[in-house]
Amino acid sequence: MNAITDARNGDLTPYLQQQQNKQLLRFITCGSVDDGKSTLIGRLLYESKVLFEDQLGQLEADSKKLGTQGEELDFALLVDGLSAEREQGITIDVAYRFFATEKRKFIVADTPGHEQYTRNMVTGASTADLAVILIDARQGLLTQTRRHSYLVSLLGIRKVVVAINKLDLVSYSQAVFERIEAEYRAFAAQIGLQDIQCIPLSALRGDNMLETSPNTPWYQGPSLLAHLEDVPLEQARQNQAPFRLPVQWVNRPNLDFRGYCGNVAAGSVRVGERIRVLPSGQQSEITCILGSAGEQQQALCGQAVTLTLKDEIDISRGDLIALADAPPAVADQFEATLVWMDEEALLPGRPYLMKIGCRTVGMSCANLKHRVDVNSLEHLAAKTLELNGIGVCNLHLDRPIAFDAYADNRDTGGFIVIDRLSNRTVGAGMLHFALRRAQNVHWQAIDVNREAHAALKGQAPRMLWFTGLSGAGKSTIANLVERKLHALGRHTYLLDGDNVRHGLNRDLGFTEADRVENIRRVSEVARLMLDAGLITLVSFISPFRAERDMARGLAGDGNFLEIFIDAPLALAEQRDPKGLYLKARRGELKNFTGIDSPYEPPVAPDIHIDTQHETAEAAAERIVEALLAL
Ligand code: ADX
Repeated sequence: MNAITDARNGDLTPYLQQQQNKQLLRFITCGSVDDGKSTLIGRLLYESKVLFEDQLGQLEADSKKLGTQGEELDFALLVDGLSAEREQGITIDVAYRFFATEKRKFIVADTPGHEQYTRNMVTGASTADLAVILIDARQGLLTQTRRHSYLVSLLGIRKVVVAINKLDLVSYSQAVFERIEAEYRAFAAQIGLQDIQCIPLSALRGDNMLETSPNTPWYQGPSLLAHLEDVPLEQARQNQAPFRLPVQWVNRPNLDFRGYCGNVAAGSVRVGERIRVLPSGQQSEITCILGSAGEQQQALCGQAVTLTLKDEIDISRGDLIALADAPPAVADQFEATLVWMDEEALLPGRPYLMKIGCRTVGMSCANLKHRVDVNSLEHLAAKTLELNGIGVCNLHLDRPIAFDAYADNRDTGGFIVIDRLSNRTVGAGMLHFALRRAQNVHWQAIDVNREAHAALKGQAPRMLWFTGLSGAGKSTIANLVERKLHALGRHTYLLDGDNVRHGLNRDLGFTEADRVENIRRVSEVARLMLDAGLITLVSFISPFRAERDMARGLAGDGNFLEIFIDAPLALAEQRDPKGLYLKARRGELKNFTGIDSPYEPPVAPDIHIDTQHETAEAAAERIVEALLAL
């Protein structure tokens, strides 16, 4: 009883301890509030009596106030009320709720169900054993039902309960239930979901929620709660898999102790076993395992432990410790499924960050193989992934990582994608396999390298990156700069947008995706020119910060000058040297920068040229001086 009081006061620990010996089922509910999701969760929580009594009192009062029909409490009010409270403090959209019955304990990830909340669903599903998919009996399967089911399957959840809800509103019709069940099973078979239990429900009235209902005498299966209590739990695959420990941090309180801390993501390990650290490949032996209760002989899957090793080897956050004879593969190119969660579409070629386990690395999507239509399951050609889009692509990383296929291990094969500039989580993904070319294409060491080329030319190779609106004067100024450098005996080359688009990039247009690819290619070319020892001038609109940052990264910070050729749109438009603004205004030219395609001005350019107040000649002079001073 005390434990329950504590739980009500916000401390769940004693209550959880009391529940320790019961099996835990983690599940997720998918569906929208309209499908009755909140009512369903509310009733499960209510019946397991973890609720605060005053909240119950409040709920009854609210239900009366809102004129809820009959005697039923409005459970939706309760759950929504709880999440509203929570959202005031922190904005996690996934609420994990705990409840227990005599037989089992449960953690339910409650995720907002609106179409655009794929992100929450993916978060909630990544640890779930089972998914409850709600369908409103009056509506049948919706796009959202299919998307959620597809994600559930992708995320490796094998067990599904299809809660066909609001059956009271279709007179407890067996025909309606069976039609929806048949349709769902047909869809599920195509996406590889096999373990499915369909249950006719009225979450509001309680039919088949806790006990089987007399209103559905034709239904022979279990109630929802009975099913959740009895469904056999797979012995987690991860327990049997080879040992994996992503290192979360290195504990080094003094010179005599160095411990590697993290959660065991798979398998187990004993004191004395040989381990291998990845991606470096160094080996050692485990000398000690520290757990929550002190020293232990073995570390098991799911436990948080600190390991100490026999040898002093260099291990840092993000490395992976594995058994020496069963290590994961290491690679930097993969095929993967990506689920896109951001309003801004995925742009192949754009540099993003991948967070996998405790490691964060640079990532870009090389090409999209296809996207999936969640209704028809067709594979469609695609250049980008929009919000909620699901697709398969090849990924390139800027460093090798140790990994497992997601199908083998959710922790070491699942990742999230982060936008470099905003730090938002914009996608999630699952690794399929390493591309073979990642293993077969090696970097060839060349003796006559950048330094050798540069030495012969007697100059330091640099990249001068001119960015600005069309008509701002980039080409004019870049041209002047090149002439001055040439006159000084420097070896240069000028890459100009209009020119490169006639050759190397003639297959590219002006969509965001094409512009990203345009800049990716030209920055790679510019990098090669740097290696050839040249002072390379690049004059492209290059409207996005992310790609200009990528170019800086390729050049190396100290070799790069971002030069902002700044002209207000009105001025560029007034000059309109090629008559393109006029065309764009007339609607004859789509996606024109500044008109109906964005330009992100540099935040801190190395050189800022205000073309309203500085002549091209003076600007060029200033740029040459800055270059020579680098
Ligand atoms: S970028 O955005 O991908 O960097 P880039 O510098 O290669 O553009 O090409 C810009 C040049 O293409 C402009 O100077 C202009 O002459 C021409 N152009 C044609 N269509 C467009 C458009 N829709 N938006 C911008 N420039 C365009």
